[in-house]
Amino acid sequence: MTKIGIDRMSFFSPHLYIDMTDLALARHEEPDKFLIGIGQSEQAVIPPTQDVVTMAANAADQILTDDDRQAIDLILFATESGIDNSKSGAVYVQRLLGMNRYARTIELKQACYAGTFGLMTARDYIKAHPGKKVLVLATDIARYGLQSSGEVTQGGGAVAMIVSENPKIAVLENDNQYQSEDIMDFWRPVYATEALVDGKYSSEVYQTFFKDLWQRYQKNSQKTIADFNAFVFHLPFTKLGLKALRQILPEANDERQNQLLANFEASRVFNRRIGNLYTGSIYLSLMSLLLNSETLQSGDRIGLFSYGSGAEGEFFSAIIQPEYRTGMVTNQFEQLFAHRQRVSITMYEGIYQAALLESSDQSLNHADDPAKFILTGLKNQQRQYETH
Ligand code: HMG
Repeated sequence: MTKIGIDRMSFFSPHLYIDMTDLALARHEEPDKFLIGIGQSEQAVIPPTQDVVTMAANAADQILTDDDRQAIDLILFATESGIDNSKSGAVYVQRLLGMNRYARTIELKQACYAGTFGLMTARDYIKAHPGKKVLVLATDIARYGLQSSGEVTQGGGAVAMIVSENPKIAVLENDNQYQSEDIMDFWRPVYATEALVDGKYSSEVYQTFFKDLWQRYQKNSQKTIADFNAFVFHLPFTKLGLKALRQILPEANDERQNQLLANFEASRVFNRRIGNLYTGSIYLSLMSLLLNSETLQSGDRIGLFSYGSGAEGEFFSAIIQPEYRTGMVTNQFEQLFAHRQRVSITMYEGIYQAALLESSDQSLNHADDPAKFILTGLKNQQRQYETH
């Protein structure tokens, strides 16, 4: 059977961040509540000069060859931070990246889940059209509001994935389990710039969905926890993934439990420092596992749990491929973390307030943004993008 899966992956998050101890002190909280109780150390700060289009372009540009730009004829843009209620973010990215004109471009939405729908749609598309490749983009800005309890779970960034036959990184197994239920745990009405959330309820539903899908998966696949070397979770904050994992750990023997816990720690290294990036969160965690695990090897099976509020969940599995490290950009995370600038809470609050464009013409000061693709302003109600 043809193997289809993730061939290459790349990540982008802007050049600014805040430290969670600084945020805790500014909000009169114990730092350990944020560092341990929530499981976050740092948080990406998104300047006005970056949006979901520029972040997706900045991520994808690093893995696309000239051949890919011509060969890819399907671009799936998953986001819940869209910049237009009508036009898809994918069509902007197509132009910025100089991609094939004869391509389909579309935006996907279902909270944090849409990237997974994109990945599975890409897999099915390639199955129906052998030889094709698909670009999947998962790009978001997590925004809850200054001084809200969700503030510690903000963040942002983009993951780009090229999906193909005979992939370098991971083959997707065809044994997914999924479910949807109309609930109000987190939502953002069209007139709102910040999410509305019932934080405790959302965390409970997340864990219930995981447990339910895991049981259903085992029943249908005849696999058990002994068949898995690692689990990767959507990580709105990293403690939640740990709580989900702990629900099923007693099913494993001691040796397997230690391996799963060690791999969970590897899978949250990057997410601890970026924060939530909604659609991209589970795929950032996958990259974190691939680059930080000390035991992962070719042939290992990993289980992935995707969750999007509202709500939709999916559990699926993937097999690690021999050349998985070559599917990622060398030193991408080292470079990002070495060059990011820490900003004070006062500066972050100023950036937060400035982040949304008014509807009047304006130019953004972009001298300090080192990214290749930048939003430079608004003219005649149209976002202006530049490539550096
Ligand atoms: P909160 O209510 O301020 O926090 O907000 P808390 O009081 O529940 O404390 C958090 C943890 O810190 C607790 O641990 C405390 O015990 C612990 P737990 O009992 O849960 O294990 N703690 C301490 N630990 C060590 N030292 C201390 C200390 N003090 C307390 N000194 C909440 C937390 C997550 C509710 C809030 O941040 C929030 O609403 N976040 C946004 C919602 C969210 O992320 N939900 C996750 C599930 S929904 C989802 O994943 C979808 C989503 O990504 C959106 C989408 O799909 O588009 C959000």
